[in-house]
Amino acid sequence: MSPGACTLFPLFSILIIITSTCTATRDTISSGHPLAGHDKLVSDNGKFAVGFFDTTGNTTAPRWYLGIWFNAVSKLTPVWVANRESPLAGCASLELMISGDGNLVILNRSDRSILWSSRVNTPTKKTIAVLLNSGNLALSDAANSSIVFWESFSHMTDTFLPGAKLGWSKVTGLTHRIMSNRNTLDLSPGVYSAGPLANTTNRGFFLVWNYSEEYWSTGPWNGHYFRFSNMPEVLPADLFTVEFVSNDQEEYFTYRLKDDSTITRYVLDTSGQAKHMIWNEVWSNWLVFNVQPAAQCDVYAVCGPFTICIDDVLPFCNCMDGFSIMSPQDWELGDRTGGCKRNVPLNCGSYQSING
Ligand SMILES: *[C@@H]1O[C@H](CO)[C@@H](O)[C@H](O)[C@H]1NC(C)=O
Ligand SMILES: *[C@@H]1O[C@H](CO)[C@@H](O)[C@H](O)[C@H]1NC(C)=O
Ligand SMILES: *[C@@H]1O[C@H](CO)[C@@H](O)[C@H](O)[C@H]1NC(C)=O
Ligand SMILES: *[C@@H]1O[C@H](CO)[C@@H](O)[C@H](O)[C@H]1NC(C)=O
Ligand SMILES: *[C@@H]1O[C@H](CO)[C@@H](O)[C@H](O)[C@H]1NC(C)=O
Repeated sequence: MSPGACTLFPLFSILIIITSTCTATRDTISSGHPLAGHDKLVSDNGKFAVGFFDTTGNTTAPRWYLGIWFNAVSKLTPVWVANRESPLAGCASLELMISGDGNLVILNRSDRSILWSSRVNTPTKKTIAVLLNSGNLALSDAANSSIVFWESFSHMTDTFLPGAKLGWSKVTGLTHRIMSNRNTLDLSPGVYSAGPLANTTNRGFFLVWNYSEEYWSTGPWNGHYFRFSNMPEVLPADLFTVEFVSNDQEEYFTYRLKDDSTITRYVLDTSGQAKHMIWNEVWSNWLVFNVQPAAQCDVYAVCGPFTICIDDVLPFCNCMDGFSIMSPQDWELGDRTGGCKRNVPLNCGSYQSING
């Protein structure tokens, strides 16, 4: 990994300490005060940062994303991405700014093109964007920040952070769910999603393949403080409080950290497993304290066609005899849903196959 000119993310935590004491950080973008491509905003509590990052470390074919990550975690761990489906070729001439119409946009200063926008109609053009202590990036009225026009928590990617809502609107029918990344370099949506089902009496949340096949669920909310019937342990009571809210407007689950200095994330992995993790500073690593479904092979279609999935063996996906991996590159990056292909194609209807 060779850091490019605008690589933001320091590889060692010592660098974080240096950068955070040498540069004055801010948490707000306002009209006339954009965020430059090489810079970052940091939430007031220092927990989250927003800026541009590259997932590849490959200067000839980089993938730059605008996203939010844990500022104090020494492994780049994005919790939200703006341009999930359209990575950028660089960040040198980019700015995150408030545009003339009040939206939060990514501007290429070189050719004045808008590469991403929050795309909302704001009644006032005087807006500000603030990275809140919860990791939510909120676009609000500059005169009154409690009037929010757009927020990253309403456009979650693969991570459900404490304070966000996993649910649906009874007014619009829109569901707030999370979707897995395709792989570790390509953060576009994969085939797995997690969220409640709109208009169901079964009030839990579901892991779903390709919007159609449910392969795991929390079981219904049983009305108690923090429990689902299938997973009493998913949100340990000593770490979180959990709430289920149902009113005329919306129905959602949310949860909160009891101690805000704890660093945790609930993420729907590329492999289709939902993982709840906590950052361990001593080990400089994420520890998984809950994973569902517990067996990797219980994830629907995780290995793709013509494969055998064996939980106790690594790698757990293997091609059936006579088949080989369809896309070794995707496979390597953790996306095995493409499966395997026949080594010798069948020539159906041909002379050979009739005799063979
Ligand atoms: C960088 O990307 C190019 C184009 O996809 C590829 O040919 C090259 O092997 C990559 N380099 C590294 C170090 O991965
Ligand atoms: C910004 O625009 C310049 C000029 O058109 C272009 O060369 C560059 O690749 C653009 N940057 C991004 C990140 O799209
Ligand atoms: C800001 O907006 C909120 C929500 O609309 C409102 O309740 C509050 O009174 C406003 N505050 C001020 C100072 O205008
Ligand atoms: C939910 O179901 C009710 C009753 O079946 C129906 O009237 C309503 O339109 C549905 N809402 C959505 C958002 O699908
Ligand atoms: C996912 O579903 C869509 C439409 O329901 C279908 O066209 C597509 O082939 C499915 N994807 C896979 C990988 O089977």
